[in-house]
Amino acid sequence: MSKRFYLTTAIDYVNGQPHLGHAYEKIVADVIARSRRALGEEVFFLTGLDEHGQKVQQAAQAEQQDAQAYCDALAADWQRFATTLKLTNDDFVRTTEPRHKEVVQAILAKLHREGHFYQDTREGFYSAREETFVTEKERLPDGSFPAHYGEVVKLSETNWYFKLGAHQAWLIEHIEKNPAFIQPESRRNEILGFLKNHTLEDLCISRPAARLNWGIPIPFDPAYVTYVWFDALVNYISIPAAHGDPVVCRALGISASGIQLWPADIHVIGKDIVKFHAVYWPIMLKAMGLPLPHKLLVHGWWQKDGAKISKSTGNLVDPVAIINEWGLDAFRYYVVRELEIGPDGNWTDAGFAARYSAELANGLGNLVNRSLAMLKRYRHGVVPARHDELKTNAEDPTAIVRQFLGNLDPAYFSERLGVVLKTTESNSISLQLALVNIWHLVTRANQYVDQTAPFKLAKDPAQSSRLDEVLYNLTETCRVLAVLIGPFLPETSAKIFAQLNLPLETKLSAAAWGGLPAGHVIGEPAALFPRKDQPKK
Ligand code: MSP
Repeated sequence: MSKRFYLTTAIDYVNGQPHLGHAYEKIVADVIARSRRALGEEVFFLTGLDEHGQKVQQAAQAEQQDAQAYCDALAADWQRFATTLKLTNDDFVRTTEPRHKEVVQAILAKLHREGHFYQDTREGFYSAREETFVTEKERLPDGSFPAHYGEVVKLSETNWYFKLGAHQAWLIEHIEKNPAFIQPESRRNEILGFLKNHTLEDLCISRPAARLNWGIPIPFDPAYVTYVWFDALVNYISIPAAHGDPVVCRALGISASGIQLWPADIHVIGKDIVKFHAVYWPIMLKAMGLPLPHKLLVHGWWQKDGAKISKSTGNLVDPVAIINEWGLDAFRYYVVRELEIGPDGNWTDAGFAARYSAELANGLGNLVNRSLAMLKRYRHGVVPARHDELKTNAEDPTAIVRQFLGNLDPAYFSERLGVVLKTTESNSISLQLALVNIWHLVTRANQYVDQTAPFKLAKDPAQSSRLDEVLYNLTETCRVLAVLIGPFLPETSAKIFAQLNLPLETKLSAAAWGGLPAGHVIGEPAALFPRKDQPKK
């Protein structure tokens, strides 16, 4: 059986309700998952929850709840949220599930047997908030530690450590030889800089159960639980193991014959957790005898009105409230169109409303509505004979969408568009540029309506065949757009197909010009994005 395209998100801590940042990451991953399926690949998309560790234990204690009961209640909310976002995930991992815990313990036992761990007593400064020891090097000039560590206390503790020393050189070489491994390049440079200028300190992989009991017990030393990051990262292979992935199972010494997922094709993560994914995770995998993931796709952080999103200051964007008011697709469109994967973004309600009005209501919505309404009015909804005036305009975005979703065809770019791609851009994924190019077609088709003025042609019987041509081009453009927007705006895509009275098409190949048959009778047009400045009917 061939390997599936395997895509993951970070798994979120269950210490509160999902906010814009969590929603953004999951939507980015979902658009990629849907796009790969549209390109004809078999995909496995995994997301889920990180339920152990100090953050979750403290949150449960603050609510005077048993940690597992606390996680169970919140997990139901987060799973509902995944449904609200219409995520097409194939599984949902919770790190408190037995299928995950068993794999974490099997890996710990194996690495222990093979001599990767040792016990040591260290005295140091400990940040409970970040659940980590902080080194002297991190002190600020005034002697304090950076604010994100919260309270830092002196602590002497015996723990289990993972030897990292032997891994530094090959990791640097791997990142240097594989420019597409960490996207964007700025994050790759950051990791390379870190690895070249620091000697990696061994990773503490345990926490004394006496201090923190909300974790997976270390199988060879019951006085300890597993450090939350060692536990969390393993989700990317514990779920493949649960599905019988032969590559993962072989490394764990289990015989299996399920679907092959590993190595992951893309881990979608935020900028704050790159070190865990680009340094510790590859080393853990190498020690286990497993291949490394192909790509870490690192997104930036959202702010709201120029300030950090924060529960305590109330500076929040509630995705569910936005979706209830404006619709899911408007939310999905805005976050992907507004922010390239990499830099930080800034949510403003005015910016959201402006894109909704210009690009969705007056752009795509108006195009589809007036095109189909004219076909109804002037031709009783019957599609005229094929005509190719907008064919090239429709083909360009289709090719570009393929490119930016990761199917590279450099020849097309240099010959047709005069764009020479840099080697480091090979395989670079840009959902934003895909949308920008789809919207070039929206704009072009709206201009075409203004230029050809079908409402005038309709008044002149001598122009009847010209009107047929124009109506074909517009209706077919609506169909092509419905295919292209599918991964981004799945509800809108389905609505356009329904209004065209055609079965839903999700494969990108269906965007080929000319798919609309002459003589076909369309359905009823209806507003896709109701204008917000007018009262709703
Ligand atoms: N549990 C760890 C991840 C373990 S992955 C093996 C964690 N959880 S988290 O809930 O704090 O963050 C989950 C994801 O949400 C991370 O990728 C993080 O970068 C992302 N975001 C959290 N706040 C964000 C914004 N304000 N904006 C964009 N993404 C943000 O870290």
